Amino acid sequence: MISNKMSQLLERSAAMSNMYTEGARMKALYGVENVYDYGLGNPNLPAPDIVRETSIRILNETDPWYLHHYMPNNGFIEAREKIAASLNRRFGENYNIDNIIFCTGAAGGINCVLKVLMDPGQEVLTFAPYFGEYDRYADNVGCTLVAVPANIPTFQPDAAEMAKYITDKTRAVLLNNPHNPTGVVYSAETIKAICDVLAEKEKEFGHAIYLISDEPYRELVYDSVTVPWIPDFYKNTIVAYSFSKSLSLPGDRVGYLAFGNDVEDFDNIVYGVAVAARIMGFINAPSLQQLVVAECCEETVDISFYDRNRERLYAALTEYGYEIAKPQGAFYMFVKTPVDDKIFAQKAKEYRLIVTPGSGFGCAGYVRLSYCVNYSTVEGSLPAFKALMEYFKENK
Ligand SMILES: Cc1ncc(COP(=O)(O)O)c(C=O)c1O
Repeated sequence: MISNKMSQLLERSAAMSNMYTEGARMKALYGVENVYDYGLGNPNLPAPDIVRETSIRILNETDPWYLHHYMPNNGFIEAREKIAASLNRRFGENYNIDNIIFCTGAAGGINCVLKVLMDPGQEVLTFAPYFGEYDRYADNVGCTLVAVPANIPTFQPDAAEMAKYITDKTRAVLLNNPHNPTGVVYSAETIKAICDVLAEKEKEFGHAIYLISDEPYRELVYDSVTVPWIPDFYKNTIVAYSFSKSLSLPGDRVGYLAFGNDVEDFDNIVYGVAVAARIMGFINAPSLQQLVVAECCEETVDISFYDRNRERLYAALTEYGYEIAKPQGAFYMFVKTPVDDKIFAQKAKEYRLIVTPGSGFGCAGYVRLSYCVNYSTVEGSLPAFKALMEYFKENK
């Protein structure tokens, strides 16, 4: 018999699981090419060739004992050196191996950080809409996720509004940029305003409030937009990076955490995260992947494929009457629904469209489209989106 707590978690995850099952059922019934599946943020582009070539070379050249044995929980020293050097070059940091910890994707990294920072009963703050797993990450450490309501229609968080939600129990803020599910990139002005409020609140409450910057989409940006480097704005920032999206390696479970030298209680936090990885069972990030991504950390998939999908979808959907804040990053679009988002997503299936209700991201009235799909899916789906909007116009 499973625990009551897990039963509740399963119930909350049911909507997502049902969506996968329904997608598979529809594809079996109508054929894969006739179902327009925008449900999952699973990159459709393969990892760049250089990743495979580097993997093979490292496998061939590295002593197998060294490659496959337990290592320091923080990761291989030479791999952390390469990541630190890249961040120093790109963002003017002064990092060395002590500032970098390899983790099992951003998810593993964030969970380890929360384990170290949070006592049960405390609060993790975030901004709606938010990555649906954040609730569970906070719950894993006996804490509550507090979401600042969405700032519609721009989805740029409002720092003054955020200030109202910070209490003495707020110990960490989870901020995701570029953003899932909206594709919005928070501007430098937005980040500065948030960081200024956090610095004031740290003074007011007399303790650190750590900003965990969840950045799996850092490299996936369009229109030459710049993603602010948050440690420039706030000393108590911990960056959680992942290669799941930039290199299309979500199954490889590899990313890193970066801690600035001025992070309050640096030594205890860094040591704590290594211990958290061990006691939570991650131990260390996959060894081969650490060495591979360290060499490929400035490579990306061909972003122009996602950009083509973005432009085509945005132009067509807005022409049909959908309202969307034009995404500038990641591979998501957050579309306002003419009716309740769950009703919309349900009806969409009749048009062989799979979309995710915004209520799963703490923001009802929208659906998320993950456009990491083939261009043929985008083209094929447009008449369906058009007909769906016409249906709702005729059936108000
Ligand atoms: C905002 C956000 N954070 C974290 C994750 C987890 O990514 P990873 O595969 O790096 O654990 C995802 C994955 O989709 C995400 O969208």
